Parts: sequence; structure tokens; C-alpha cells
Amino acid sequence: MSEYVDDRVHLYQKDVIEALPQLQDDFFDVCIVDPPYGASTTNNWSYNENAKLKGFGGDWKLTNELWDLLSQNDSFQSTFAWLKELKRVIKSNGSIWIHSTYHNSGFVNVCCQLLDLEIINEVVWYKRNSFPNLSGRRLTASHETILWVHKGGAKHRDYVFNYEASKEYYSSSDLLKERGKQMRTVWDIPNNKSKDEMLFGSHPTQKPIKVAERILAICGVKDGRLLVPFVGSGTEMVAGLQYGMSVWGYELEEEYFNLAKKRIRTVLNNTQISLFA
Ligand SMILES: C[S@@+](CC[C@H](N)C(=O)[O-])C[C@H]1O[C@@H](n2cnc3c(N)ncnc32)[C@H](O)[C@@H]1O
Repeated sequence: MSEYVDDRVHLYQKDVIEALPQLQDDFFDVCIVDPPYGASTTNNWSYNENAKLKGFGGDWKLTNELWDLLSQNDSFQSTFAWLKELKRVIKSNGSIWIHSTYHNSGFVNVCCQLLDLEIINEVVWYKRNSFPNLSGRRLTASHETILWVHKGGAKHRDYVFNYEASKEYYSSSDLLKERGKQMRTVWDIPNNKSKDEMLFGSHPTQKPIKVAERILAICGVKDGRLLVPFVGSGTEMVAGLQYGMSVWGYELEEEYFNLAKKRIRTVLNNTQISLFA
């Protein structure tokens, strides 16, 4: 097992399902979960999985990953297992955000309800430049769902909500959000990654950092603690560090652990440079 531990970073190459029970109760302010969606398949595609389409915000590679190959039963059971632990380790005023698509969103919603994790909002991340449907037999999937939940139940709704910051939030690429207006539940965030985000390579389901940045604008806690159970390329950990939080993360695959480590180290070096400049 490899690890990268620093003052504000706790990154482990480890199965998060084994790691979670070792974490303290009521410890984290925010948790951003981008789990396996169970969208991969053992079926052979009739098109080349390296197919690249130009003109949709860059090159696209189709995703079919072993770590994403979950049966429906596995998907439900593992969602329940990690959510139950996340409920234990998140503070009573903390927030958990969970990414999903139609493959796993039903499981996530049901598990939240079974565990009495109150759903605050269901956000639709609208991907204006989403990958076209190659088969021509379905609509083009152009959104993902993100649930914002807290553990206080209906009686203790003292979760952190940076209401004014969420109103002030502005991104020129979002055609729906106006500065000074309440944040809506539809976020228009093109699925583009900047050169900085891809500096050390890419992950097949890497999120644009703007999604995590927006989540933290809404409920981030300066000097607080962020947990990222499924690290991938480290996007959410990078956003957490840049927001001013300490970050904890777990990733099974060596390749992605190393990618995340490089991204995180760059942020830390830049932070140090700006501190001493
Ligand atoms: C959906 S991706 C996360 C992508 C990430 N949001 C990003 O922007 O790069 C999920 C990641 O979780 C990892 N993973 C899957 N099961 C895991 C487990 N049980 N413990 C730790 N990591 C796991 C996979 O290897 C994959 O890299």
C-alpha cells in the first residue's frame, strides 16, 4: 500500500470500504463521493472503444473500466456500506455530496432514505457538450445527478450552507447562473478539463474541477476537513486544498493514486510559493 501524507493531505492507495471503519466519528465537514456508477459492461461494443470524436470539447475516449463493473446487487450493497460509514464519520453540520447517473442514482437515493440521510437537494449537472450517443438508439445522455445530503434528519437541519457565497458564485461558462441570484439546482458546467487539470495525464471519468469548486463554495469550511472516498485523478482533493481544507482520500489503482499525488503535490508547491512570495 502506498500513501502520501503531509500536513493537509492524507492520500492512501487502499480499498475505501476497508479504510472507512478506521476513521473517527463526526470528523469530516464535507465528503464528495464520485463512486463507480456500474456503467461499464462485459458486452463487446460494436464500435471501437478508442473512437475519438473531434469538435466536442476535445478528444473523447469511451469508458469501460474493471473498477466500474458492478452487478446491480453489488452496486446496492456497496453503496449502502460506504454511505452507512460516511454517515458515521461526517459531522452533524456536515454535508455529503454524491455523484450518480441513472445506473446508480436509484440505489443512492434509496440508501440515503434507508439510512435517514436527509436529501437537501438533487442537483442536475448539465453537460452542454456531452458525448454523442454512438448507437443512435438512445437520447444523448447530457446530465449527471448530484445529491446533497446531511445526517441531521428533519429535526436538526444545522448543516453548513454558505448562502451568500452561493449567491455570489459566478462562472462565465455557466449560462444559467447570474451573480447575486440564488443558486439553482441545474448547473451548466461543460465537461471540459483545462491543461492544468490534465498536466499529468487523465482519468477515464475525471470530473472538471469546476463541479467540486462549486460544491465547496456552497458548503466548504475553511480549515475544515474534506473526505474523498473514490479519488480517481484527485480532482476533489485538489479543489479542497485550494479552498483551504485538509483532505483525506482513497484510491485502489496505483496509476490513479500516482496521478492524484502529482496533482496534489503541484497544488501544495504552488501554495507554498504564494505564501513566501
Ligand atoms: C468515478 S472515479 C473518480 C473520478 C474522480 N472524481 C476524478 O475526477 O478523477 C472512481 C475511482 O474510484 C476508484 N475505486 C473504485 N472502487 C474503490 C474502492 N473500493 N476503494 C478505493 N477506490 C476505489 C476507481 O479506481 C476510480 O479511480
